[in-house]
Amino acid sequence: MIYLKSPEEIEKMSRACRVVAELLESFKKMVEIGMTTKEIENYADERIRALGGIAAFKGYRDYPASICVSVNEEVVHGIPSSRKLAEGDIVSIDLGVYMDGFYGDAAVTLKMGKVDNATENLVRVTEDALYLGIENAVEGRRVSDISHAIQKHVEDNGFSVVKLFVGHGIGRSLHEEPQIPNYGTPGQGPRLKRGMTLAIEPMVNAGTYDVKILKDGWTAVTADGKNSAHFEHTVLVTENKPKILTKCS
Ligand code: MF3
Ligand code: CO
Repeated sequence: MIYLKSPEEIEKMSRACRVVAELLESFKKMVEIGMTTKEIENYADERIRALGGIAAFKGYRDYPASICVSVNEEVVHGIPSSRKLAEGDIVSIDLGVYMDGFYGDAAVTLKMGKVDNATENLVRVTEDALYLGIENAVEGRRVSDISHAIQKHVEDNGFSVVKLFVGHGIGRSLHEEPQIPNYGTPGQGPRLKRGMTLAIEPMVNAGTYDVKILKDGWTAVTADGKNSAHFEHTVLVTENKPKILTKCS
């Protein structure tokens, strides 16, 4: 069952998404070389609370932290720790907020100082793939039109999409139908309707698409140890231009 949100529900959901958007902007300004991933979490935890929200990931399937922070070969679900960010690292920060009965979910990958050319390219291609996916979140198209747009851009650039994790509907639950894989042939899956709210989230690897899960039960890393990037937005499907709810406008 895919839930269509009424304008009133969208208004409420926008509040949670606005908190996410604001945090993403602060991360871009404050996350720097030498900082630990736990310090990022502490900051996020405090800000989410100050803005009247609840960190959505904490306790979700027993996830132990408020946000996910994944460095370099870590794909997603990295648990904040005493690891210090170093020059040349890329750090993916994934953030969910619950407020007024609704969820917002987004992620960004940040570059620490100067990164090598291949990594620079990986991060840019992943972000562009997100926006190409979002462009397809329009009434009348189908879910896999989003998937295909993402996969094509990624593979045309010589990278690979992670298949183990997918984007998802979002609203009164963090994960709702439909699933949104980052790969597929166009014209498949449910037809998009105005009022659907989707978390679109390409995870892109520099090398093989294959990932493995570390012994902590959460951290997903690339099977070949090469870098991975992740961008995500919560988006509202409309009759024309999709509305990105987790972006400050
Ligand atoms: N953005 C991710 C998702 O949609 C992060 C949630 S995983 C969690 O699944 F377990 F940490 F919550
Ligand atoms: Co998500």
